[in-house]
Amino acid sequence: PEKIIIDTDPGQDDAVAILLALASPELEVLGITAVAGNAPLHLTEVNTRKICELAGRPDIKVFAGCDKPMLLELHTAPEVHGPTGLNGPDLPDPAMPLQGQHAVDFIVETVLNEPPGTVTLCPLGPLTNVARALMKDPRVAARLKRIVLMGGAQSEGGNSSPVAEFNIFVDPHAADVVLKSGVDIVMFPLDVTHQVLTSQKRMEAIAAIGTPLAKATYQMLDYYRQYDEKKYGTDGGPLHDPCVIAWLIKPELFEGKRVNVEVEVSSPLTIGQTVVDHFHKTGRPTNAVYMRKADADGFFDLLTERLRRLG
Ligand code: BDR
Ligand code: CA
Repeated sequence: PEKIIIDTDPGQDDAVAILLALASPELEVLGITAVAGNAPLHLTEVNTRKICELAGRPDIKVFAGCDKPMLLELHTAPEVHGPTGLNGPDLPDPAMPLQGQHAVDFIVETVLNEPPGTVTLCPLGPLTNVARALMKDPRVAARLKRIVLMGGAQSEGGNSSPVAEFNIFVDPHAADVVLKSGVDIVMFPLDVTHQVLTSQKRMEAIAAIGTPLAKATYQMLDYYRQYDEKKYGTDGGPLHDPCVIAWLIKPELFEGKRVNVEVEVSSPLTIGQTVVDHFHKTGRPTNAVYMRKADADGFFDLLTERLRRLG
């Protein structure tokens, strides 16, 4: 299996991504690192442990990382995810421990201890922990297999500003470090994640699994869909973060293009905008595969089948 570290800020869509990863034998989750984003760190780390327990995996190592972006003040998203970051189901307080090590140190140590080119980082929130790990030890970038992340927006416009997507908007300086790191990057921006909507029909297929886990997942998604349905008039909310995990399992569900991507870090008008050079206007070397198309039905078939496996 592919060895992954999930870096996350749950978030209902983060939670579904974690469940999908833990249900999938193609992946070996070495650890999960929490970051401040959708909610403050003291909530995202607890939410991460709640989801591991929901999946029946209290053995997973969970680490807390950075509680604020590199330079900016933290900006959370209670309007989307609720004040706890994970509103919807009533999940018990976790009994499994939080690891004592800092998430950044765990990432550095793990990447240096595993054989070169074998660890994939999966950032599902602001890129603060990941950037700090890359900065802390310059050997990390060269040893990683790749970074597969959710972030960015171009054709769809932004969801945090007219041009910026939330994960990049919250910590654009961290995103800049990651995009310039030289690591092989695969990006899932709003351009593609907005195609993966939790329609009523798809949510009912999940509820029909009938397990307590499926019921809790349904409750999460039922809370989460409300913001987007009101704001954008869609049938369902976009399952951004699970796209990262689904691609690692079944890459044929997605289509993208290798391009150069840079992030705006200084303009007050456009800070956090991802600038995607689709037509090679700049001559800058390509640094990422920028995803643009998803097979949404294929994605939900995979997700539903895997949630059923978790029991
Ligand atoms: C991203 O922001 C968060 O609200 C979601 O969890 C996702 O990672 C989408 O812009
Ligand atoms: Ca997230």
